[in-house]
Amino acid sequence: MILAGSPSVLLAGSPSMLDPHGTEASRLAGVWWLAFGMAVVVYMVVAGFILRGVLRGRRSEQGRSSRISEGAFIWIGGIIVPSLILLVLAVVTVQATTHLRRADKNPLSVEVVGKRWWWEVRYPSLGVTTANEIHIPVGQPIDLGLDSADVIHSFWVPQLAGKLDNIPGQHNVLRMKATTAGVYRGQCAEFCGVQHAKMGVLVIAESPATFARWASQHQHAPSPPDGDETARGQLVFMSSPCAGCHTIKGTQADGTRGPDLTDVGSRLWLGAVTVHNTRNNLEAWITDPQLVKPGVLMPPTPLPPDQLRALVAYLESLR
Ligand code: CUA
Repeated sequence: MILAGSPSVLLAGSPSMLDPHGTEASRLAGVWWLAFGMAVVVYMVVAGFILRGVLRGRRSEQGRSSRISEGAFIWIGGIIVPSLILLVLAVVTVQATTHLRRADKNPLSVEVVGKRWWWEVRYPSLGVTTANEIHIPVGQPIDLGLDSADVIHSFWVPQLAGKLDNIPGQHNVLRMKATTAGVYRGQCAEFCGVQHAKMGVLVIAESPATFARWASQHQHAPSPPDGDETARGQLVFMSSPCAGCHTIKGTQADGTRGPDLTDVGSRLWLGAVTVHNTRNNLEAWITDPQLVKPGVLMPPTPLPPDQLRALVAYLESLR
């Protein structure tokens, strides 16, 4: 049984650029509201002229001449005013873009590699690797290095920053700074194949103290299994194809085709924000991931029920 779950329980607001929770997103929302405000004014003025024309009807030949000549009207309404509007928008856009590109002091670097159809997340300065869920401290400038391992993806967490592509062979840097703690939903925004729609990402912005605790916990390999079932689960993992594709720090498993599973038990979702990380979903995912996320590159791993239970218990213990 696959439980879809309700993401609204978890997320800080809707993933909309009009609900900014970061410095960069606020600036982008500001540009949007300015453009929207100007468009509304232009719309009202034009609609006003149309309405006036309809109500007044056809002017008679010798009718009262308007206070401003037709030539001046075209010059002002058709050239000067639109030029001013476009000039203001151009200046504001260039200013915002310059600000978004400006490097902050002491940023935390996070490498985000787009892969079909998930995100590898590495913290080079911390020696931590994870997937699909990016922990960041609130108030700290973040430099997200964006790369791709296969096709073009696009990283977009609308509440925190603008959208930037992950392009094979090109290193892009996206800057962001979260201003409020919360879990922010992001999405691959460039069509990249059959599971493009299920290539989600979460940014988990937490207090600097909570982040420091998370980082120090993840710098070490998880402690060895402390129960019979988890120990059996580890054996199942190491003797099955799992270990060929996934890495678990501190074990012989060092595959790199699939996500690093060192902290898989602490993740909120499975399959790049496809289903909640529950025991049932994890069992379903391992048995036949195609049923959960059709087209996924992970092969099915049918296991006898006791081995599956032990494997899931082991994976859930990895935190
Ligand atoms: Cu990756 Cu769309």
